[in-house]
Amino acid sequence: MTFTKAEWPRRLRSQEWYGGTSRDNIYHRGWLKNQGYPHDLFDGRPVIGILNTWSDLTPCNGHLRELAEKVKAGVWEAGGFPLEVPVFSASENTFRPTAMMYRNLAAMAVEEVMRAQPIDGAVLLVGCDKTTPSLLMGAASTDIPSIVVTGGPMLNGWFRGERVGSGTALWQMSEDIKAGKMSQEDFLEAEQAMSRSSGTCNTMGTASTMASMAEALGMALSGNAAIPAVDARRRVMAQVTGRRIVQMVKDDLKPSDVMTKQAFENAIRVNGAIGGSTNAVIHLLAMAGRCGVDLSLDDWDRLGRDVPTIVNLMPSGKYLMEEFFYAGGLPVILKRLGEAGMLHKDALTVSGDTVWDEVKDAVNWNEDVILPVEKALTASGGIAVLKGNLAPKGAVLKPSAASPHLMRHRGRAVVFEDIDDYKAKIGDEALDIDETCVMVLKNCGPKGYPGMSEVGNMGLPPKVLRKGITDMVRISDARMSGTAYGTVILHTSPEAAVGGPLAVVRTGDMIEIDVEARRLHLDIPEAELSARLAAWTPAADAPKGGYDWLFRTHVEGADTGADLDFLKGCRGREVPRDSH
Ligand code: FES
Repeated sequence: MTFTKAEWPRRLRSQEWYGGTSRDNIYHRGWLKNQGYPHDLFDGRPVIGILNTWSDLTPCNGHLRELAEKVKAGVWEAGGFPLEVPVFSASENTFRPTAMMYRNLAAMAVEEVMRAQPIDGAVLLVGCDKTTPSLLMGAASTDIPSIVVTGGPMLNGWFRGERVGSGTALWQMSEDIKAGKMSQEDFLEAEQAMSRSSGTCNTMGTASTMASMAEALGMALSGNAAIPAVDARRRVMAQVTGRRIVQMVKDDLKPSDVMTKQAFENAIRVNGAIGGSTNAVIHLLAMAGRCGVDLSLDDWDRLGRDVPTIVNLMPSGKYLMEEFFYAGGLPVILKRLGEAGMLHKDALTVSGDTVWDEVKDAVNWNEDVILPVEKALTASGGIAVLKGNLAPKGAVLKPSAASPHLMRHRGRAVVFEDIDDYKAKIGDEALDIDETCVMVLKNCGPKGYPGMSEVGNMGLPPKVLRKGITDMVRISDARMSGTAYGTVILHTSPEAAVGGPLAVVRTGDMIEIDVEARRLHLDIPEAELSARLAAWTPAADAPKGGYDWLFRTHVEGADTGADLDFLKGCRGREVPRDSH
C-alpha cells in the first residue's frame, strides 16, 4: 500500500466555518465561544469530532462519556480542538423491531453530521453491535479521516464457579429451563452475574467481532478490540487515539486509504480465526459498499475455507474476552495469519504503519485461549456460504458454532410462516417434529420482519430438549446473535418476503444440506418449485410511512449487506456553503 501524506500546514475544511472575518465566520465562532473557548483555538488547528454513541438506553456504551474525556485529552495534547458530538445510538437490547433496522438510519445520520459540520477528523466511539458498523459506514461515505475506539468488553461473568458469557448463557439457560434442568429461581439469580461491569458483551458475539473487524480492517489502533472496558489500558487507548487522529488529519489519512479490498480480505480471515459472528458478513458487505470495494458472499466463502478457528471463546469455545486480552488479543491472531500466508501484510492502518509492522512482535501468553493450529476448534472456521435451489443468492452458516454430525443432513421440513407462528407452535406437544427434522422460519429477512431480526437460532421444541438433544438444523432468512450457536443456516437469499424459494417451502418437504459441498437443496421437482413460485403472492402488509416506508422500500438483500440502495458509495466531504 502506498500512501502519500498531504503537506502540512494547509487550510482545513473547518476553516470554511471558523477561519475568517466574514459575517458567517463570526456567526459560527461566536456561538461556539459561549462554551468558553479562547479565540486562538480557531486558528486552523484540526477540529476533531468525537462521535459518541453513549446513551442511557445503550448500556453497552454507557461508559463512553468517560472515554470521550480521555479522547479529548489526547486531542488537546496533539494540538487539535476536540468537540464531542452525540450521534444515533442503536441499542441492541432495546430497539424494536430490531436494532438492525436502524443501522442504516444511524449510518445516514452520522454521514450527514460529519459532512454538515466543521469536522476535520472523527473519533468513532462505539461498542454495541450496530454502533460500530453504522459509524464506520457513515465515515466511509464522507471519507473524512476517522479512527475507531470501542468501549471494550465487560469483565467475565461468574455464576456458581462457571463463566457466564453474555447472551450465550442466556440461550443455554433458557433451553435448560424448557428441558427441566434449571429452575426459574436459579435463572433469576444468574441474571445478577451476567453483566458485572461496564462494557459490551464479553463473548465473541457481534460486538466483540465488530471490534475485531475494525482492528483487522486497520481502522482502530492495534490491540484495541480486546481491552476490557474497565481496564485502565482502555482509557490509555482512548487517549492515544485522540493524539493519533490529529496527525491523521494533518496527513489526510482517510478511510479510503485504509479500508481497501486487502483490508476487507484480512478482516474476513480474522473472522474465521476468531469464530466471529455471522453478523460480520452483512456489516462488512455494507461497509465495503460504502467504500466502493467489490466484496461478495463468494469472497467470504473463498477466504474463510482454510482458516482454522483458534480463539477458544464462547459461543464456539469456553473462555471470554477478558482472557483473550490477557492472552495477547487480536495482534496474536493477525500475526498467526501473517505467518500462515493468510494476511495482506502491507495493508495500511490508521497508525500510518502496515498491519504487519503492528503485529509482528505479538506474543501468545496462553495457548489454551489462543490455540495452536493442531488444536483448532474447527479446521475450516470461516463462514460457509451455501447455495442451491433454496438459496440462489446464498445463505450462511458458522461452522465453529455448528454440530459436526449435522453438517451433512437430510430432513423433513417443519415450517413456521413467521416468528409469531413459531412462538405459537413450538411448545405444542402435538407438533409433529423430532430431532431429524429441519426447522424452517420464513419472513424474518430485511423486508419481511422488517429489519432482519436475530431469531434464526430458534429454540428447540421442549419434547426434543427433554431427550437431551441440543441441536437441530434450522433454516431462515433471519440473522442470529453472535453469542448464539447451533447448526443454523441464516440470511437465506432472496428472502421469503420478496418471493425467494424459502417462501414456498411446505411442512413435509425434504431438505438436504451439505456444508462441505456448500449445498442447500429443497428436494422437490423443478416444475413443482416453479409452479409454487409462480403462485406466490406477497403479504398485504404496507409500511406505515416514515422510516418504516423508507427502509422497506429501499433496503437491499442480506447477500449484499442490507444497506439502503441510495446510501451505497462515498459522497465525499464537500458541502455547499451556508448563508446567514
Ligand atoms: Fe450491546 Fe451485546 S447487546 S454489546
